[in-house]
Amino acid sequence: MIDVMIYIHIPFCDSKCLYCNFVSGIYDEYLKKQYFKKINEEIKFNANIDYHITSIYIGGGTPSSVDSKYILEILKNIFELYYVDKNAEITIETNPASLTSDKLLDYKRGKINRLSIGVQSLNNKCLKVIGRKHTKKMALKAITLAQKYGFHNINTDVLIGIPKQNFFVLKSTIKRLVKAKVTHISAYMLINEPNTPLTNMIESQKVKVVDEDKCVKYYNKIVMFLKKRDFKRYEVSNFAKNNYECKHNIGYWQCENYLGFGVSSHSYLLGERYYNTSNIKEYLQSDFVYNKNKLSVNEKIEEFIMLGLRTKYGINIEKLKKLGYDVLSRKKQEIVMLVKNGFIKISNGCLVVCEDKFGVLNQIILKLLP
Ligand SMILES: C[S@@+](CC[C@H](N)C(=O)[O-])C[C@H]1O[C@@H](n2cnc3c(N)ncnc32)[C@H](O)[C@@H]1O
Ligand code: SF4
Repeated sequence: MIDVMIYIHIPFCDSKCLYCNFVSGIYDEYLKKQYFKKINEEIKFNANIDYHITSIYIGGGTPSSVDSKYILEILKNIFELYYVDKNAEITIETNPASLTSDKLLDYKRGKINRLSIGVQSLNNKCLKVIGRKHTKKMALKAITLAQKYGFHNINTDVLIGIPKQNFFVLKSTIKRLVKAKVTHISAYMLINEPNTPLTNMIESQKVKVVDEDKCVKYYNKIVMFLKKRDFKRYEVSNFAKNNYECKHNIGYWQCENYLGFGVSSHSYLLGERYYNTSNIKEYLQSDFVYNKNKLSVNEKIEEFIMLGLRTKYGINIEKLKKLGYDVLSRKKQEIVMLVKNGFIKISNGCLVVCEDKFGVLNQIILKLLP
């Protein structure tokens, strides 16, 4: 048996946020029906009794925007056709504007045990400027409702660098989330993606962007703030209370096998990458003959280093050696310098970036790549 994680992409949203260029959009019920029929076919097509499923992640888009019967059907199929570990982490991404009691009850019935809620900010002006359709009150209500229905493994997504956000505004969001007893916070730097309405507004000077240096300062202060409240940073953007780290994401960063189902999803299985089309109409007509891409040894090594160093676990030196890269001898001089100057440390057979040096992570990575 091989350990495999499953990712399901739900490309539907109730409205499109001004900053987002994810593969997601607003579609009618007829198309949604076709989509779920297709994704269930894809799940069946790939079923293999040798797969031991360690986690399932239902992301998007906004999975909570669709009728929960579709989510239950997908989960039922996975449970019937694959061997799902009884301790598997099963996450669903949700939006405060569409999370209801009925859906939460269904998610529990479907064995979902982790929720991720797109909060972004608890400041109504910030929410408005990025085109979110919910308020601070709705976001907080979504958290308490989820807790009422027995979900205690809850992540909230937060954005750093929203126009109109100063450090005080950002800190009060984080403070309120800690008070609400969420167990995980993902704090992402807002990326101004090309051709999004927000980027166009910035370019035409209708809104003012928060400058990058300020964002880095905010981020560093948030790391300290969360640390004092027992939220440990285990990856650049991810903070968790003890034992609430997201197993699925850790799997990605450690280059574990995963199967992705749905439009635009990727899979990584035994060293090979598979891609689905990002066009929903094309996906609906596809016959699951995937575009394959066998990673070269060098690509595997690079990926292992780049993903691993983003986490507090670092990169396992022996595993890297097995991939064909003896980093200790190949980068001896660089490692000696980096250790001496407090950028990295060697701990339990792993190369780990020192806690206060994540700000220069990219430069450290460049020094260690083959
Ligand atoms: C699929 S969405 C989460 C669920 C739901 N769709 C929502 O937004 O409420 C995943 C996360 O990606 C992040 N995201 C999307 N576009 C981004 C961007 N341009 N820059 C940084 N983070 C972004 C947001 O924090 C969002 O919560
Ligand atoms: S951020 Fe979430 S809700 Fe907004 S458009 Fe992107 S996927 Fe949809």
